[in-house]
Amino acid sequence: MTARSDSRAEKGRSSFVAHLLEPVPYYETEYGAAYCGEALQILKDLPAESVNLVITSPPFALRREKEYRNVPAREYVVWFRPFAEEIFRILTDDGSFVLEIGGSWTKGEPTRSLYHFELLLDLCGDAGPFKLAQEFYWFNPAKIPAPAEWVTVRRMRVKDAVHPIWWLAKTAYPKASNKRVLTPYKKGMRKLLKNGYNEGPRPSGHIVSDKWGRDHGGAIPPNLITAANTRSSSPYLDACRQYGLQPHPARFVEAIPEFFVKFLTTEGDVLVDPFAGSNVTGYVAEKHRRRWISVEILEEYVVASAFRFPDAVLSPDLEKTLGTLTSGQDGDSGREAATS
Ligand SMILES: C[S@@+](CC[C@H](N)C(=O)[O-])C[C@H]1O[C@@H](n2cnc3c(N)ncnc32)[C@H](O)[C@@H]1O
Repeated sequence: MTARSDSRAEKGRSSFVAHLLEPVPYYETEYGAAYCGEALQILKDLPAESVNLVITSPPFALRREKEYRNVPAREYVVWFRPFAEEIFRILTDDGSFVLEIGGSWTKGEPTRSLYHFELLLDLCGDAGPFKLAQEFYWFNPAKIPAPAEWVTVRRMRVKDAVHPIWWLAKTAYPKASNKRVLTPYKKGMRKLLKNGYNEGPRPSGHIVSDKWGRDHGGAIPPNLITAANTRSSSPYLDACRQYGLQPHPARFVEAIPEFFVKFLTTEGDVLVDPFAGSNVTGYVAEKHRRRWISVEILEEYVVASAFRFPDAVLSPDLEKTLGTLTSGQDGDSGREAATS
């Protein structure tokens, strides 16, 4: 990471972000900028129809309040509405809004809250402006069994190991191509491609045409993203440990933004994550050369997220904060080492 000297600052400000926003980002990279602030305010500052994809995981309505501003289930839909209005306004006509939102248990009994379904109906139902392009699910095989009382003590419920991901759009035909997210063919399919396919009717009456035997470069993935959130070491986590920063407790697994970034955008498109936390979205966007803006309200998370970007140009505020963190270490160069 680099302090904002005049020449670097020039480089940073000449990025597309300078044309979109007035506030100074906490840090900038070749493709994006991270802001520390209230998401609603920054969304309002963005021009209409300037963003191809908004992908985010907002604070969930959890039974127990966490440190990152969770909103109670009964207030959730009303709380989210102004954000949804701004997201709709800034999206291009063929843009998408991808919302990862965990379910929640009702306090005191083994039943589930309906808040995330109510939110979906509010966003897409009779009154909502969006269309539901498709629902996805994230399956986390490493999810711990909870709530303990219902799952491990009284054994009357099972692990809740999937999170819904709503893929919403302004129209029925958002920009998307599943050709960009093909997965390698399984062994059986590779064999079929090599040896030929048995065409004709199946017991179900379905006629299998010769198209099934063609090699399309990979398999079309399902709407289930399987990925465990179990990494205990990464440049981000190592830097948090080294500088005594709290790693974000609800980070995206990279596989989620990665899938949608590839599926729904192409190089140079603009992405926004208004509830960016540790900025996994920005990291993935940078890797795939998409331009990005992230917003996070809690400064400690923005500060830690900067460690994902070794070449970032830092704002004076961030430089100052990092200076206090590194005091007692061998100078600023410690940061560079932590990110390599
Ligand atoms: C579920 S976490 C997102 C984690 C993120 N996907 C990641 O990979 O680290 C939600 C984040 O939204 C932030 N947040 C809550 N209210 C906000 C607001 N009004 N404006 C900006 N950020 C907000 C919280 O501090 C929290 O870090």
